[in-house]
Amino acid sequence: MYVCLCHAVTDSQIKNAVIQGDSSLADVKKRLGVGDQCGKCVKMACHIIQREINAQPNYYEVA
Ligand code: FES
Repeated sequence: MYVCLCHAVTDSQIKNAVIQGDSSLADVKKRLGVGDQCGKCVKMACHIIQREINAQPNYYEVA
């Protein structure tokens, strides 16, 4: 699903950005450009970022 129409950014791209280490809207904005034009996507982008961060395990597996 497209989240940012100005830059044609999808929710999957935002999720992948979080998986690659982005942890805030500023990080995702720098990587994908989300929210730097009309700003209408900011609320949804923040929601997706937070949901993806919460889904990440906060521990490292030890073999
Ligand atoms: Fe994302 Fe316009 S929809 S900046």
